[in-house]
Amino acid sequence: MTETRIAVIGGSGLYDIAGLQDAEWVTVETPWGAPSDAIMSGTLDGVPMAFLPRHGRGHVHSPSSVPYRANIDALKRLGCTDVISVSACGSFREEMAPGDFVIVDQFIDRTFAREKSFFGEGCVAHVSVAHPTCPRLGDACETAARAADIKVHRGGTYLAMEGPQFSTLAESKMYRESWGADVIGMTNMPEAKLAREAELCYASVAMITDYDSWHPDHGEVDVTKIIATLMGNADKARTMVARLPELLGATRAPCPHGCDRALEYAILTQPDA
Ligand code: ADE
Repeated sequence: MTETRIAVIGGSGLYDIAGLQDAEWVTVETPWGAPSDAIMSGTLDGVPMAFLPRHGRGHVHSPSSVPYRANIDALKRLGCTDVISVSACGSFREEMAPGDFVIVDQFIDRTFAREKSFFGEGCVAHVSVAHPTCPRLGDACETAARAADIKVHRGGTYLAMEGPQFSTLAESKMYRESWGADVIGMTNMPEAKLAREAELCYASVAMITDYDSWHPDHGEVDVTKIIATLMGNADKARTMVARLPELLGATRAPCPHGCDRALEYAILTQPDA
């Protein structure tokens, strides 16, 4: 058994979490540069917890300029074991309505202007991301969300786009009708891939803010509509997060899905090369 340390990466609208005891903002240096911001570190119900605002306080990093490698590395250096991503998303499904949460379990990565790996020249590794999220952590998020009276959908495919512009109508229809995506956002990739490379359990909670542009009754997406829904979503997310420590517990066994051993057979480079 090892000590649990929960990390929450907060997206648009979620720049803090409530009730952390002995909370302090900690600055972490990494070989990949500075993370998005200092990391708020403390305990919640006796379980160590860290919070990182993905876009930085004041929302200063765009989805393309978020330092994803530094963020994941900083959380790893702090001893985090479980990473919960919370982010605003558009929906491609009528039944996944603004205000609902989706526990994402698959991704289609359409980002192209980001550093996506800790490995490369000098050390080559290929981890599996066939199942990019941790079902155990997803269970905890689902239970926490239901206990907080949030309408939550279990499972969904997240289309990660580069942005910063929203999708065209043709793209929106293609992602929904041909590609089978359920939600769309700009930030969960390469974050999920990097969490796997760092052998961290990762779950993604998508907070629906809009119907993107495909929905005939909802018109096109714009930031003012998103912000209105975001405020309510962020309060719900804080309530959900507050329930996670008792569900995950102060200690944890090895991940039953192997997230914490992802590199075991993934490194091709010889140790003496
Ligand atoms: N974030 C929130 N809504 C979005 C959308 N429709 N597309 C991409 N990112 C989003």
